[in-house]
Amino acid sequence: MPVQTAHPNGHFYSPVVDPDSIEAQSARIWPEDPEVLGIDFNEASHRQILGSYFPKFLPEYDYPETVEDSDVLEQFYTRNSQFSWLDSRSMFVLLRAWQPRRLIEVGSGYSTLLAADVKRRFLDDRLDITCIEPYPRPFLRHGFSGLNRLVEKKVQDVPLSEFAQLEAGDILFIDSSHVAKTGSDVNFLYFEVLPRLNPGVRIHVHDIFLPSDYPHDWVVTENRSWNEQYLLRALLMYSTAFEVTFSCSHAYWRHRELLKEALAYPDGRAFGGGSIWLVRR
Ligand SMILES: C[S@@+](CC[C@H](N)C(=O)[O-])C[C@H]1O[C@@H](n2cnc3c(N)ncnc32)[C@H](O)[C@@H]1O
Repeated sequence: MPVQTAHPNGHFYSPVVDPDSIEAQSARIWPEDPEVLGIDFNEASHRQILGSYFPKFLPEYDYPETVEDSDVLEQFYTRNSQFSWLDSRSMFVLLRAWQPRRLIEVGSGYSTLLAADVKRRFLDDRLDITCIEPYPRPFLRHGFSGLNRLVEKKVQDVPLSEFAQLEAGDILFIDSSHVAKTGSDVNFLYFEVLPRLNPGVRIHVHDIFLPSDYPHDWVVTENRSWNEQYLLRALLMYSTAFEVTFSCSHAYWRHRELLKEALAYPDGRAFGGGSIWLVRR
């Protein structure tokens, strides 16, 4: 049965945006040189990761661009529909550099294939991977080598004790609905899970495009009306509790020359991405 709403989509009381009114303000929403106030993006960390970790580990990024996708897929490939471009390359590099012992992925699939492969080939199998995914793709439910556990639940229904197991250096990977609303996974993660994380736990959030807004076509053409990025932006402003370590979008906007060198793709290939990596202080 369709859900009744008090106000139509696009109404000022509705969280669903009106693409026409957004388009009319597009010069303000997507300026040529977007700026974010009040967030320390940690330029030194970007320089270290792009200037030293990428050259060390990226040459071993050897995934095929495409393979035949299937319900029993066991191999990561770069041009999948979910986790690609700079995001997959930076995750490869950072898992290698940081060598975490535990990874909890909220919203799983292709990114899990990548993590499992890094674990098998480069981390001596010493990475415990738990996926929290209520609607797993068939290949995830089928399972593959390196995946320890699939929790087929909404993250809101997972006991908080699950996240307390993460210790300094471990990773909470967030790539879920991207929508903050009453009772949502995003509200649960930001208000119940993040404040309880142990110091030193690393947090990955996907589809964060700061200093830019969400991509124009996602907002205007597709009208996704996602809003997680606004919540994260507010969380990071003047924050002493969470430190930015690396952001693919920030690297694109503020470290483009270094990024070009790091990727060795001067034509801009593989520049796009929305992964941001934080650490809980
Ligand atoms: C963008 S996709 C994740 C893509 C994945 N990281 C990959 O690389 O294939 C978003 C995921 O969030 C999951 N999701 C939706 N609601 C959720 C919830 N309440 N808790 C956890 N995950 C949820 C969806 O099932 C979907 O697989």
